[in-house]
Amino acid sequence: MDSILVTGNGPLNGAIPIAGAKNACLTLMPATLLSEEPLTLTNAPRLSDIRTMTSLLQSLGAEVTALQDGKVLAMSSHAIDNHTAHYDIVRKMRASILVLGPLLARDGHAVVSLPGGCAIGARPVDLHLKALEAMGAELDLRDGYVHAKAPGGRLHGGVVDFPLVSVGATENALLAATLAKGTTVLKNAAREPEIIDLAECLIRMGAQIEGHGTSTVTIQGVERLNGATHPVVTDRIELGTYMLAPAICGGEVELLGGRRNLLEAFCQTLEQAGVEVTDTDTGLKVTHKAGRVKAVDVVTEPFPGFPTDLQAQMMALMCTADGVATLEEKIFENRFMHAPELMRMGAQIDLQGGTAKVTGVDRLKGAPVMATDLRASVSLILAGLAAEGETRVSRVYHLDRGYEHVVRKLSSVGAKIERIKES
Ligand code: EPZ
Repeated sequence: MDSILVTGNGPLNGAIPIAGAKNACLTLMPATLLSEEPLTLTNAPRLSDIRTMTSLLQSLGAEVTALQDGKVLAMSSHAIDNHTAHYDIVRKMRASILVLGPLLARDGHAVVSLPGGCAIGARPVDLHLKALEAMGAELDLRDGYVHAKAPGGRLHGGVVDFPLVSVGATENALLAATLAKGTTVLKNAAREPEIIDLAECLIRMGAQIEGHGTSTVTIQGVERLNGATHPVVTDRIELGTYMLAPAICGGEVELLGGRRNLLEAFCQTLEQAGVEVTDTDTGLKVTHKAGRVKAVDVVTEPFPGFPTDLQAQMMALMCTADGVATLEEKIFENRFMHAPELMRMGAQIDLQGGTAKVTGVDRLKGAPVMATDLRASVSLILAGLAAEGETRVSRVYHLDRGYEHVVRKLSSVGAKIERIKES
């Protein structure tokens, strides 16, 4: 398992290109199952999760070809000959559950492994199932699999009132509703930019969707969908992650392709901390003179609130802030695993249930630390960028799931960082 070695090296300056969004691409790819015509995604990120989703779709009989070094995904599902998503793939990546809705909508039956939990929480899928049942699906849960079928071979429209906001459940329901007979209304739907991106792609394919990006989405089912070509939206979590690099080290970095409307709450939090965020013609520029930022409190919420996927990275910044910050994680039940690792670097963090109280210190000290999940891994790298001395982050396979070319991107703005190949 490889490690990443990072040494505090002062302010960062330059520009970092932001890739297409992992969490948009993972829900756009299953949309190919809804049509027999080709669906092509451009601006796709080159990540291990995308390769996992590619393998899953291919196992169902879809053709997925990565072009232009993986930036373009040419997909075609004219011959789906398998409707079972096996545990060995689904357990590796929870987003695999997103083939359930499209398979049901396309052919009226599917068998999909339950994903199981992961490091940050139990991650149930009950809301996905509730939504599909509201569209007429009959679900039988046995042997760790969901055996689903649509009576008469076709789902019907329904009203889905989500008791809590779920990105994945909204996506599964949205995908399924496009081909259901009649009208589906999703209430308390997720509003993330990735949901908007999915809806825009489906509309390009001929779906009839209104209200995407708001809490109430209405879908008028159609008989069939066409093919399309769709650009994957910019990855707002990669964007926010790299915005924190000049904030924690000092300097000035432009994030190419970044847009403030993808991360308004996060940008405001950074500005409250005393970091300058400026729109440019080609992206977002973050400027911070070297020195400690102000401590600011954070509460993670569904979009448009502060993203849970940036909580770990923000905690790294607060570890060297001037003052005491509280970070409240309200989306997942176990998303502070980066905290003990940051404490190894001298951070002062008091964990109380879903709240972390961080007392900023003048400077962290480099140390060997271990990545526990995708966003924790980059939190430790950000801390290492500003720490005194060398930090070795192990188990960076987590990183490869969600960040392409981290070493290249950070080195290009002056970071002292390298990847160590280990057996
Ligand atoms: C998506 O996960 C993202 N993953 C996550 O990003 C992100 O953290 C999360 O949304 C919240 O924004 C992808 O898009 C592939 P949820 P998802 O359903 O859809 C509970 C990353 O780092 N819940 O919005 O699984 C759930 O346990 C990953 O890129 C149910 O109770 O998140 C959680 O507490 C991590 N029942 C809350 O809802 C359900 O059926 C929000 O989960 C579904 C979810």
